[in-house]
Amino acid sequence: MAEKLPYQDPELSVERRTQDLMARMSLEEKVGQLVQADGRKDALLQVREKRVGSFLHILGAPTLELQKLAEKTGLGIPLIFGIDAIHGHGFWQGATVFPTQLALSCSWNPELLEIMGHVTAREMLCTGLHWTFSPVLCLTRDLRWGRVGETFGEDPYLIGVLGAALVRGYQGKSISDPDSVIACAKHFAGYSETVGGRDASEADLSERKLRSYFLPPFEEMVKAGCRSFMTGYQCIDGLACVVNRWLLTDVLRGEWGFTGFVVTDWNNVGRTHTEQALYPSIEAAVGPSIHAGNDMIMVTPEFYAAALSQIEKGTLSKDDVELACRRVLSHKIEFGLFDHKRYPPLQKAPEIVGSAAHREPLLRTALESIVLLKNEKAAGQSKRILPLSSNIRHLALLGPNADDTLSQLGDWSFGSGQASLNTGGHPRHLVSTVRDGVREKARTRAIGVDYERACDVMSNDTSQIARAAELAAAADVAVVVVGDVLDQTGETCDRYELDLTGGQMPLLRAVKKTGTPLVVVLINSKPLCIPWVAENADAIIEAFNPGMLGGEAIAEILFGEANPMGKLTVSFPASIGQQPVYYQQIPGWHGNKHTGYTSKPLFAFGYGLSYTTYSYDKLELSATQINPGESITASVTVRNTGGRAGTEIVQLYLNDVFTSLSTPEKTLKRYQRVHLERGETTTVRFELGPGDLSFIGQGNRPVIEPGEFEIMVGSSSRDEDLLKARFTLLE
Ligand code: NOJ
Repeated sequence: MAEKLPYQDPELSVERRTQDLMARMSLEEKVGQLVQADGRKDALLQVREKRVGSFLHILGAPTLELQKLAEKTGLGIPLIFGIDAIHGHGFWQGATVFPTQLALSCSWNPELLEIMGHVTAREMLCTGLHWTFSPVLCLTRDLRWGRVGETFGEDPYLIGVLGAALVRGYQGKSISDPDSVIACAKHFAGYSETVGGRDASEADLSERKLRSYFLPPFEEMVKAGCRSFMTGYQCIDGLACVVNRWLLTDVLRGEWGFTGFVVTDWNNVGRTHTEQALYPSIEAAVGPSIHAGNDMIMVTPEFYAAALSQIEKGTLSKDDVELACRRVLSHKIEFGLFDHKRYPPLQKAPEIVGSAAHREPLLRTALESIVLLKNEKAAGQSKRILPLSSNIRHLALLGPNADDTLSQLGDWSFGSGQASLNTGGHPRHLVSTVRDGVREKARTRAIGVDYERACDVMSNDTSQIARAAELAAAADVAVVVVGDVLDQTGETCDRYELDLTGGQMPLLRAVKKTGTPLVVVLINSKPLCIPWVAENADAIIEAFNPGMLGGEAIAEILFGEANPMGKLTVSFPASIGQQPVYYQQIPGWHGNKHTGYTSKPLFAFGYGLSYTTYSYDKLELSATQINPGESITASVTVRNTGGRAGTEIVQLYLNDVFTSLSTPEKTLKRYQRVHLERGETTTVRFELGPGDLSFIGQGNRPVIEPGEFEIMVGSSSRDEDLLKARFTLLE
């Protein structure tokens, strides 16, 4: 057997191996390592000619064929395969598909994110994939934006906590662990802030705004050890992120100490010419993109040839190529691609993917994500409508999302825009829709269920609504499942309204007219404007896209087997023109409202009900005055005052009362999830350190200004749900 070369020797350090490998490579091979292709055309040829270092969106056996070819070619540098496995390995038939990021964020539970990451990593690895383009750290502010459902909502602190947990889940202790994949923090940065919610257009962001809200979650990913970043599509102040060296190098590497590698988004480099009209040719964008700090170029087919010609011309420096190539290769080596992780254990896929152990957390993730938005007493009733009373004998289950597996699974899974990826769709029996879940629960309780889809989300056909109303009239309760569908969400699906479209409003109105108590279940990718529902439904359950066992979880909540505990991570506007309604508003609006309308969101960040109730009492601070550098502790008594055990999410917000530059009136600083038995009381303590009192001041640097601070603790971001206490930071 031929002796191992140093770069092939797992006993040597990553640096040594990388150095040895680089020394053996031609410039052309180095450029090839910077190329990520989608494999739709000429994949084998690209490998044979050493013009590619990575593929994305190829799954299973074809990855094996390409990897084997790569091993036999030249120095045998393995390929790294990437995929958008962003809420489970959603493009693989039979894989475990979790609630979407937005849904899962409403659990405020990092443990669940970590579990999702770990399960996803295991399922990816055995199907030939190494690198997931997740988590999304974008901040949701304009709800018209198509990709709201991919985010963790609107709060930078919470996004950081949940994103870091997901990174831990994917990467484990080290990316070389046999069960770890590489995570990718995206879209760096400010991508969600494009004007009008128009995906990938211009974001109006000052450096101060970036540093105050949009960058902190990304910095948390660096601290969590996330090994790759993806560049955003859009321009900030005229400059495309892909050529923004300040962002990709000065801040990311210089200030935060990031040592991973950066990949562009899909054809970022090409579209600076073809769409953004920033360069007269694609060639001209190549040098600035690599120099800015991108190490791998995702699907700009012209890149390879352009890079070589630009090196010739001197607009792309060899040093920049060397640096980028070194980063890519050192990660391939550290990850184990030259060694134990070169070939996927494909034969194990059937026993790993969708295994019972992986499905086990699915129900929990869905249950903890669901938010109860309203729960009233129906006319003439003494008890609240939910959980459904044991006296119910007949239930009408209506609506287009009651039995729609695709809406339930959400974007980046079967049926979504990238569906050409899927290997035959998801087996129906693996998904529990609301119809499945309700039927099962009703059967064991001898409750009759009449189901009628009744209308469509995209067409205005109302011909089946009369029939649905008849069923509602004959029932003790009507559960109507409405929301949105995949055609209304994701990339290229920005919305101009946020209504319940198609026949959904006529359906709801017709059911309401029957006088039968009305429970509305929302399965939707993002907040919709639902003032009529908020006023007229007796109860509202928000599930977003709750994943494979979402229907079972919703049924458990309807029938009271589980107690809802989720809280919104994104505020709901009452009307689209009321936007933005995120809770971190800057004070100073003349009149504080639109003419003749409220400024309040329909449902606010942090809000969510339970089948029990909680009281908050005795907010106490450890001091009324502190010196610079000192910490302060806030404690509050929380009591379960209702009839059953529950989990409450206790939130702490801070207001720096007077600041030299404007700051929001509330900023989430801490939260705790507390489980309380019926009648149980607990004291929740939060410590704030000096850094928590800072904001981004003059010169775009954090400052701490002496003066008055207000601490607010309670069950949501709404003033009426918060206890308040003040302290002073002395000079
Ligand atoms: C474009 C999307 O913006 C990004 O989120 C995704 O990871 C890549 N395409 C790859 O699919």
